[in-house]
Amino acid sequence: MSLQSKDLLGIKELGAEDIELILETSSGFRDVLERDIKKVPALRGKTAVNLFYEPSTRTRTSFELAAKRLSTDVINISTSTSSVVKGETLQDTARTVLALGADFIILRHSCSGAAHFLAKNLDASVVNAGDGTNEHPTQALLDLFTIREKKGGIKGLEVAIVGDILHSRVAKSNIYALKKLGARVRLIGPPTLVPSYMKELGAGIFSDMDTGLKGADVVMMLRIQMERQGKGFFPSTVEYFRNWGLTAKRLALADKDAIVMHPGPMNRGVEIASEVADGSKSVILEQVTNGLAVRMAVLYLLSGVRA
Ligand code: CP
Repeated sequence: MSLQSKDLLGIKELGAEDIELILETSSGFRDVLERDIKKVPALRGKTAVNLFYEPSTRTRTSFELAAKRLSTDVINISTSTSSVVKGETLQDTARTVLALGADFIILRHSCSGAAHFLAKNLDASVVNAGDGTNEHPTQALLDLFTIREKKGGIKGLEVAIVGDILHSRVAKSNIYALKKLGARVRLIGPPTLVPSYMKELGAGIFSDMDTGLKGADVVMMLRIQMERQGKGFFPSTVEYFRNWGLTAKRLALADKDAIVMHPGPMNRGVEIASEVADGSKSVILEQVTNGLAVRMAVLYLLSGVRA
């Protein structure tokens, strides 16, 4: 049981069978996480390196814990306290950790394509933990896992993705994944953040939030990426919330059994109201919990390719 490739770089490169395999394997690990002893010896003797060039709470910690739950040794490299600040290149840094015996390099980087570059040049398995505005494949996989758990399947669902699609690697990975598994996707947001060419991804485009939300089974809110808003994509956060923020009143336009998702971190009062983020339809913390099982599955299945 393994994936087709030694690396997980993006959902774009995965087939529907690969996605199904990861989700099925994640279910098994989700059960392990419910046990008193949450650790298995599956990857004993392996070494994983978390190499993060951008900040992270959820992805970094859950990859670390996923590796530990599989009995893998983990090294965390934060670039601000590494020789990267002395000018060491990405490839030299990666080669250095490889010389220490790394089997997996889990990379987050601000440049789109950074994980692909490393994967081409290294023997270790490279896992993309978010590259620029390109992809964040394990986020989409944990989102699919959560949707499937809550809705019983993916095919035929109406999924609304709302917000800063332009800068969002989470949105891109989710669009690819949801389409591959047969969901219908609507993208909602200001035209500056949801340009019309995104129709080419096979999604409907809505600038009016109320119209776009009607009857949606899943409402996936995205973080407004304040760090990338230098060009003035909308007038102010107050106006953004008024037009595209998810309130309880707006959520009532979606299907009565709709679930609310957010990859985190959230800007409360900008893209989502606290009453919704903490409300009964929110599965935001379950996404985090499921992320651990999904990342265990990814490391386990990649290990099978390299064995
Ligand atoms: N969703 C996500 O990638 O969160 P972090 O930036 O905290 O890892």
